[in-house]
Amino acid sequence: MGIMDKKTATDRISRRAFLRSSAAAGLGVALAGPALAQAPPQAAPAAAKSADELRVAVIGCGAQGRVLIESMLRIPSVRIAAICDIWSYSRQYTGNYLKKYGHVANVYEDYRELLAAEKDLDAAIVATPDWVHAEQANACLRRGLPVYCEKEMANSLGQARSMVLAARETGKLLQIGHQRRSNPRYIHAIDRLIRERRLLGRVTVAYAQWNRAKADLLGWPEKYVIDQATLDKYGYGSMTEFRNWRLFKKFGGGPMVDLGSHQIDLFSWVFGTRPKSVVASGGLDYYKNWEWYDNVMAIYEFETKEGTARAFYQVQTTTQHGGFYETFMGENGSLVLSEIPQRGNWAMREPHAPEWDSLAKAGLLQSETLPIQKSTTKNVFVDVRVTAEAGRWPLPVELARPAHQPHLENFFDAVRHGTPLTCPAELAYESCVAVLKANEAVKARRVMDFRPEQFKA
Ligand SMILES: NC(=O)c1ccc[n+]([C@@H]2O[C@H](COP(=O)([O-])OP(=O)(O)OC[C@H]3O[C@@H](n4cnc5c(N)ncnc54)[C@H](O)[C@@H]3O)[C@@H](O)[C@H]2O)c1
Repeated sequence: MGIMDKKTATDRISRRAFLRSSAAAGLGVALAGPALAQAPPQAAPAAAKSADELRVAVIGCGAQGRVLIESMLRIPSVRIAAICDIWSYSRQYTGNYLKKYGHVANVYEDYRELLAAEKDLDAAIVATPDWVHAEQANACLRRGLPVYCEKEMANSLGQARSMVLAARETGKLLQIGHQRRSNPRYIHAIDRLIRERRLLGRVTVAYAQWNRAKADLLGWPEKYVIDQATLDKYGYGSMTEFRNWRLFKKFGGGPMVDLGSHQIDLFSWVFGTRPKSVVASGGLDYYKNWEWYDNVMAIYEFETKEGTARAFYQVQTTTQHGGFYETFMGENGSLVLSEIPQRGNWAMREPHAPEWDSLAKAGLLQSETLPIQKSTTKNVFVDVRVTAEAGRWPLPVELARPAHQPHLENFFDAVRHGTPLTCPAELAYESCVAVLKANEAVKARRVMDFRPEQFKA
């Protein structure tokens, strides 16, 4: 019987609150939703280790650890050999889930015990809260293991720097989990269309947002309370801090870092340079029980080869209207992307711009533009000064895999064949410098300048 089935009445009530709050924080998929309910296509590799099999340890089996495991089970010849988590709930759930697919993983509470006992590992995945990434990733690197560590690298620059140095010193691979860097849709849009083919001409403005619905603090089933001595041992003051680590300064960076880190990384990718300055406004305006800002609006300035460009980023956590996406705007057109293709996967041409038909013929864009939605609102005069919106040219690239799978594949290919990582530690460090500075700018209430040497660890 699984851990979900053995509930007392009290547990059931707690668990409902737990799932409700988990779903609100985007955890529902991993805990109870379709991603884990669907059978991943791969069973465990055969018992005897094949030549190309990689034995992997996963440290941190919460929501994201399980999302990564779900993707890893789809990648041939990857065996989850060991898992570690300080929470019995995560250990049991993940251990049971893995058993269903024939992966009998050794289970640990403390990553130090895992590293001491497991002598036959080929790689480690670190998916714990941001504040322990440096300690754990560095220990794995020093044990000789290549590491895939979740974003944000760390919630302090000192820790992030130590990770770059540890990777450099040990000569081991360190991939950071900005998974859009390996997403074929993003690579096509940014490398092929915007940078190589110059689809948008000079890009002058970027805009990205992550608008989230309001949410309660995450709860936990009473049965899985961690005793205070264990919480103290691992640095958490209470179950509330432990479950809601992102919102507290000691453990995370708030929504700006948690969500912004994915999208602000794209600004530098598109502009081909790091930002020159950032100015930001934000605050803890809605929630009473958080430490970090619940909304931030930041403007980064870039000095590109073609001149100044600006990127506006908004994160807010009280309404989900508009969701999350990124837009890049240039003199000849705009391009909208989102990790969820329905929210962004198309380009729009400015009327005066050179034609795009030849790009469509070359298969770089889809040839059919989508018709503009006609407004059905009655009694509205269409003002002649309103510029007609351009038609949408959908991008032809699809990703028929979970969003994290290509990034893990890129990591495992690098481990096996020495191919380049798409998000090595040095690159992620640059992104970390840019993102952490926005929180500083909110606090300082002034423009913060970057010096080029600040982006080097
Ligand atoms: N790339 C992405 O799209 C993406 C999405 C979500 C989260 N993340 C990142 O993944 C990481 C984990 O986030 P999450 O949403 O899974 O959080 P979570 O709270 O759901 O899970 C964290 C897990 O780590 C465990 N843990 C905490 N401290 C530990 C320690 N010292 N040693 C071992 N285990 C420990 C907890 O018990 C929990 O099971 C974070 O860095 C987050 O930023 C990335």
